[in-house]
Amino acid sequence: MKLLVIGSGGREHAIAKKLLESPLVKAVYCAKGNARMVLDGIQIVDIDETDATSLVAFAQEQEIAWTFFGPEIPLFHGVSDAFYEAGLQVFAPSKAAAKIEYSKDFAKQLMHKYKIPTATSATFIDFQEAKAYIEKVGLPIVIKADGLAAGKGVVVAFDMDEAVEALSSMLIDESYKGSNQEAVVLVEEFLEGEEISIFAFVDEDKAYFAGISQDHKRAFTNDLGPNTGGMGAYSPVPHYGQEIIDETMKKVVQPLIKGLMEEGSPYHGVLYVGLMVTKEGIKVIEFNARFGDPETQVVLQRLDSDLAKIISDILSGYNPTIKWKSHGVSLGVVVAAEGYPNSYESGFSLGTLQVPNGSQLQLFAAGVTKGTDDTHFNAKGGRLFLVGSEGDTIEEAQQRVYSYLQDTAIPHTFYRTDIGKKALQAKL
Ligand code: AMP
Ligand code: GLY
Repeated sequence: MKLLVIGSGGREHAIAKKLLESPLVKAVYCAKGNARMVLDGIQIVDIDETDATSLVAFAQEQEIAWTFFGPEIPLFHGVSDAFYEAGLQVFAPSKAAAKIEYSKDFAKQLMHKYKIPTATSATFIDFQEAKAYIEKVGLPIVIKADGLAAGKGVVVAFDMDEAVEALSSMLIDESYKGSNQEAVVLVEEFLEGEEISIFAFVDEDKAYFAGISQDHKRAFTNDLGPNTGGMGAYSPVPHYGQEIIDETMKKVVQPLIKGLMEEGSPYHGVLYVGLMVTKEGIKVIEFNARFGDPETQVVLQRLDSDLAKIISDILSGYNPTIKWKSHGVSLGVVVAAEGYPNSYESGFSLGTLQVPNGSQLQLFAAGVTKGTDDTHFNAKGGRLFLVGSEGDTIEEAQQRVYSYLQDTAIPHTFYRTDIGKKALQAKL
């Protein structure tokens, strides 16, 4: 069969590559994909990820068996709905079900209604009321803009000035932007603990565990600097074992998908549960309607089963066989352009972006474009690529990845040097 993956980053590179490993799969197309994917046999298609008409036409012309959606933006723009309406097979939620990601207020209401553990919160459209609420409940406090905010919509405020600034930029400044929707903020209890991501493959009322990982969201080593899309990850998370996974499937995933069915928006595709493990137990920080990036790049290395077969089985209504490796760990480090997540340089050379054969390293590319020829690449984005490795231990995987990154240092780029450190500290 021929498959289509929508998206262009490292997550989509990893998904497309894994799908291509299946004996059932003849070709994997990726729209728009990136230039580096071609070296792994992925066929890139020059169609924008939000261009529903052209994507549907492509899938029909190429007789694509099913389409996998990587990012949330096309879901928000109704692209998965267009595929459903055209009678095409897709592994993705509808726009209505994806609302769990693009409306934090909707997600919060569902969590309250279906008794899913999460931080307490209140919703506001009025600046003064929000400010008065924060003065009453105290600091630190978390302020979240409703809607897709590309990682910029969350402020953890430790003093009142920070809180007021966040509220005014989200509520007052937003209302000047001429959008016809009222700006909404969520003011949420600050949760202390460690963050992990748990994924599930969902088919309406059925859910199957699809990996656990710990991302590193701050830009710099030791969790310093601004929030980013994610600077590195590892899987599994040795200090959070089967118990946390079972608890998440039972107390979070099951009630959520049953709730979505009751609300008339049954969920299909990958569900992302962002959790804080607190002293009082697990609490949901966020839901996303997709796999994580960079978590996917490490999680899929742990999967011992055929990903294309799993998804085909789910789409045909069968129970899939999903086997995970029982030994070792997978770890990946993101290399980003200097300046990311703020303004960064672009256009500089990244070289050949090839890891040595037999090195057990993997490379998944994100913000890259064709360089001087088809085997050389230039920077075109904030997060550029991820280098990952499996290992018997975290230390072994770290050693492989970091020695490669040191040997191949690329000017104008940076990476965190502590990916996996929390797992090592937890062992002590
Ligand atoms: P989100 O966009 O919801 O993932 O939030 C971005 C980041 O803000 C998360 O990865 C957390 O590090 C942090 N965060 C969000 N909500 C909370 C919370 N209630 N307590 C503490 N930190 C939070
Ligand atoms: N790595 C965080 C995310 O994909 O949202």
